[in-house]
Amino acid sequence: MIRNPKDLQRYTAPERANHWVVGICFILLALSGLAFFHPAFFPLAQLFGGGTWARILHPYVGVIMALSFVRMFFRFRELNRMTPADREWLSRVGEMVDGNDHNMPVQGKYNGGQKLLFWALVVCMALLVISGIVTWRAWLNLPVVVVRFGAVIHAATAAVMIGLIMVHIYAAIWVKGTIRAMWYGTVTRGWAKQHHRAWYRQMTGKS
Ligand code: HEM
Repeated sequence: MIRNPKDLQRYTAPERANHWVVGICFILLALSGLAFFHPAFFPLAQLFGGGTWARILHPYVGVIMALSFVRMFFRFRELNRMTPADREWLSRVGEMVDGNDHNMPVQGKYNGGQKLLFWALVVCMALLVISGIVTWRAWLNLPVVVVRFGAVIHAATAAVMIGLIMVHIYAAIWVKGTIRAMWYGTVTRGWAKQHHRAWYRQMTGKS
């Protein structure tokens, strides 16, 4: 890819590494978790060396994702604070999806949709970690009723989270020029001006 020296820096290398550790762990967890969820998905366990290994590895990968997500949470939480402009953006999102983004309010580094998704991911991650710990019988031996309740919450939250991440990936691909932000760390000025104008002004000092 040819990069222009005028491109704007959106993510530093540590931010990208942090994001991709979470992303890779999420994919590994979704694949191994689906293998336990329904017999139709059980062949996925072969990717991890069989059912026993998948069952052993799944919670440890979960610990890596949880710790990395905590780091990501503290990196991004201030930038994801909701503002009145974000609420207006969310109320007009239908117009944008229909192809008319002319009336959308000017957005900072993240738009209302990204912020909503961020907080939904935070809630899901908290539920997944708590219910995952409750269900981890290698370390804890809680009453079976608690383990069963935890397993239901864990599976339901995981299903919601897989849906949310599909939306996240779809949006990253749909808004052309976004994937490279997390890959190379930079975006074009045109991308910033069109999708995050307030952030563009802040980065360039242009009004
Ligand atoms: C595995 C496939 C994934 C892809 C292709 C992907 C792609 C991206 C891209 C391109 C961005 C930059 C968006 C922008 O700057 O406007 C981004 C940001 C972000 N991603 Fe992902 N991502 C993935 C997985 C995940 C997962 C699993 C999580 C968390 C559980 C996550 C959480 C975030 C967060 C928090 C941001 C910053 C945006 C914000 O704070 O609102 N991503 N992602």
